[in-house]
Amino acid sequence: MSEPLLSVREIHTYYGDSYVLQGVSLDVPAGTIVAILGRNGMGKTTLIRSVAGLTPPRRGDVVFKGRSLRGRPPYAIAQAGMAIVPQGRRIFRSLSVRENLLLPTSRLARASRTAADGRRTHWDLGRVLEEFPQLAERIDHPGGALSGGEQQMLAVGRALMANPDLVLMDEPSEGLAPLLVRQVEQIMKSVREHGHAILLVEQNFALAMSVADHVHVVSSGRFVFQGPPDALSREVDILDYHLGVSGSR
Ligand SMILES: Nc1ncnc2c1ncn2[C@@H]1O[C@H](COP(=O)(O)OP(=O)(O)O)[C@@H](O)[C@H]1O
Ligand SMILES: [Mg+2]
Repeated sequence: MSEPLLSVREIHTYYGDSYVLQGVSLDVPAGTIVAILGRNGMGKTTLIRSVAGLTPPRRGDVVFKGRSLRGRPPYAIAQAGMAIVPQGRRIFRSLSVRENLLLPTSRLARASRTAADGRRTHWDLGRVLEEFPQLAERIDHPGGALSGGEQQMLAVGRALMANPDLVLMDEPSEGLAPLLVRQVEQIMKSVREHGHAILLVEQNFALAMSVADHVHVVSSGRFVFQGPPDALSREVDILDYHLGVSGSR
């Protein structure tokens, strides 16, 4: 009976004539972390954009909570319970931490989702600041004055404010020092513990392997591996050729 929260079915996505995703399928069950690994330019961000309706697939389907998202604009998809933590964080540098968290788009999404599932945390400003005390300390600072790690927390906090079922995270560890990568890892595990699912795109192999329940490796717009992390760790050729990590873990 348990239909996955998100089901991506054989999607083909283009930018003009450029054919990027060439028949990609994946499932994200509720409350799990599914990671997409792959080198630069292989189509990871395009997958996120396809799911979120920013670059809709030309063929195939994305089904979220049992409903096709075909033809639905990004704001409607967000309202259905999906939030993005975009590559490069995209926080508003001149707005304060508080203003970033209370952006109208978050409010819009939140307003339509008041009847949250009982076991899940209902996120509001107070709960987000409890979860990220470092943000509470800097609540009136401009977003641009935060460190890279704090900006990442802000981007995650902003996504949680919409009380999404699914969070799409595009390279949350990019540009962060190792200590902060550990912090991002903890944040993702905590988001999962709170009952949200995550579709994670990463180039950081160790991070993805440590948090994910299921892993896909993308190469030139197709999946060349899918399975649990421990199965991937035994695929020496895939690790070496598609991910540039060699040896076993
Ligand atoms: N807006 C765009 N217009 C045209 N081509 C794009 C655009 N965005 C990405 N691409 C191309 O699509 C391919 C996949 O890009 P992307 O999904 O961003 O890769 P990744 O996130 O894995 O680094 C690359 O060849 C990239 O050059
Ligand atoms: Mg990318």
